[in-house]
Amino acid sequence: MSSRDDGAMAPHVVETIQTSPFDGQKPGTSGLRKPVAIFQQPHYTENFIQAGLISGLGDKVKGSCLVVGGDGRFFVKEAAQLIIKIAAANGVSKLVIGQHGILSTPAVSHIIRKYKLDGGFILTASHNPGGPKGDFGMKYNTHNGGPAPESVTNHLFELTKTISEYKIVPNVKANLDELGSQSFQIQGEQFTVEIIDQTKDYVEMVKDIFDFDLLRGFLKTKRVLINGMNGVTGPYIKKIFIEEFGLPEEMCLNCIPLPDFGGRHPDPNLTYAKDLVDIMKEGRHDFAAAFDGDGDRNMILGHSAFFVTPCDSLAVLAAHLETIPYFKRNGVNGYARSMPTSGAVDLVGKKYGKEYFETPTGWKFFGNLMDANRISLCGEESFGTGSNYIREKDGIWAALAWLSVMANTGQSVKEILTSHWSTFGRHYFSRYDYEQVSSEAGDKLMEGLTKLINDPKTVGMTFSDPTGKSYKMAACDNFEYHDPIDGSVSKNQGIRLMFEDGSRIVFRLSGTGSSGATVRLYVEGYEQESDPNSYLQDAQDVLKPLITIALRTSKLKELSGRDEPTVIT
Ligand code: G6P
Ligand code: ZN
Repeated sequence: MSSRDDGAMAPHVVETIQTSPFDGQKPGTSGLRKPVAIFQQPHYTENFIQAGLISGLGDKVKGSCLVVGGDGRFFVKEAAQLIIKIAAANGVSKLVIGQHGILSTPAVSHIIRKYKLDGGFILTASHNPGGPKGDFGMKYNTHNGGPAPESVTNHLFELTKTISEYKIVPNVKANLDELGSQSFQIQGEQFTVEIIDQTKDYVEMVKDIFDFDLLRGFLKTKRVLINGMNGVTGPYIKKIFIEEFGLPEEMCLNCIPLPDFGGRHPDPNLTYAKDLVDIMKEGRHDFAAAFDGDGDRNMILGHSAFFVTPCDSLAVLAAHLETIPYFKRNGVNGYARSMPTSGAVDLVGKKYGKEYFETPTGWKFFGNLMDANRISLCGEESFGTGSNYIREKDGIWAALAWLSVMANTGQSVKEILTSHWSTFGRHYFSRYDYEQVSSEAGDKLMEGLTKLINDPKTVGMTFSDPTGKSYKMAACDNFEYHDPIDGSVSKNQGIRLMFEDGSRIVFRLSGTGSSGATVRLYVEGYEQESDPNSYLQDAQDVLKPLITIALRTSKLKELSGRDEPTVIT
């Protein structure tokens, strides 16, 4: 019996519902993401939850304890109630759920680890727009707190292709708004739903990682803007930046989580957070950070909107980690970056004698390296930075880490970057995204590039732009990752064209879109100069010849029918 389950209700009976498979329930780079209407189809979400439980837990479903939390977007509450009903029917003994169904992605990872839970469901489509016409998403995280590895997600997909039934207790319903435990008797077994405070565990964790006294004092001397983009981070920003650090409320923007993110794209980059960039350009603030819908991405800006590329952010943090209490205590193991991320962090690894790794796109690939204590810091060009205290990337952590570096060095964001480049040289980096391209055009593009890399004449060939700048191809391939910990192999992770001067062009199809194809083109060039001022060139100018070569070689414009990319970062 529970507070809610007073026996007056009909008994909770497990029902087995006949269902049939839906196409396309393959988890992408980070779970399953589709338009809300797809998830609202009868049995669609149910099938995925049932398959998630079996692939994630196998014969350990019975008696397991899981966490559930989402980014507050439309359909989170409905999906959470479905997880409750299906988990109860499958013999899960306890679900820990954030109040109102809300938890940030890094908070979920922390809660799994702190309370030694068996895994969890995260209800988010991350930075994709929300609302009834937007996207919804779901992903399963395992007992290490990280996104399920490919062995689990592949199994999950196989199950969704053959599923014929799922189990459900239709009349189990929890009050997601009321903190505390609610217990139900399910055919003789107790099933508990515990609704927890969204921010408590997370705030305790970051207080342990960072020197809050230092940050509080530092922020008294600076003007900063923290932008929650109406995603999940609002309550966390209020607790940390307003309550702990005493920041005036007006310095914390868009801190109310909204089911449709205010109709905007909750993605912290120069395009979708342009209003923040514009305020920063006015030159009244020293630092700004913005986070995405589920709180795992970050964008860092300095005075006058000085933009820190995520690739440089990773390298700078790598070079300064040891000033942060958590790393003082635990030391710093190696670093890792995803393949399309620039090689800036590798140079820090070389200099300090640390291991550094190159993994495919997707945070899940960092998990094994962290579990084996080989890396302490990892990041991706896609605005993700994080560390081994959890198994997800973490926007707020990245902002606190940057503020710690500023407080410890006494330097501005721009000074930190220019001094980093003077030591290591600069990796110029840019990504062009072509969103909503047809799947056929995306496939054709990759086919053409595959022909190019398989042609024995390609290596050694010289590629020139109209101004005559030329690059000789040193190597090319489709990136394949051999996980050094479990030996698993992940193929076809992106076409790499690598030139003799260290420049690089990479093509991938995104694994996070919800329809059609998103083509990503990543371009990187390295310069080691003696004059520090030469590092302040615009990346678009420096990379122009390579971008022209990339567009021509791939026939991207012709195939996609697009003159310009949707987003440039
Ligand atoms: C999510 C994942 C990241 C990934 C990013 C871009 O944020 O958590 O690990 O880098 O999406 O993935 P995509 O496949 O769209 O390039
Ligand atoms: Zn995200």
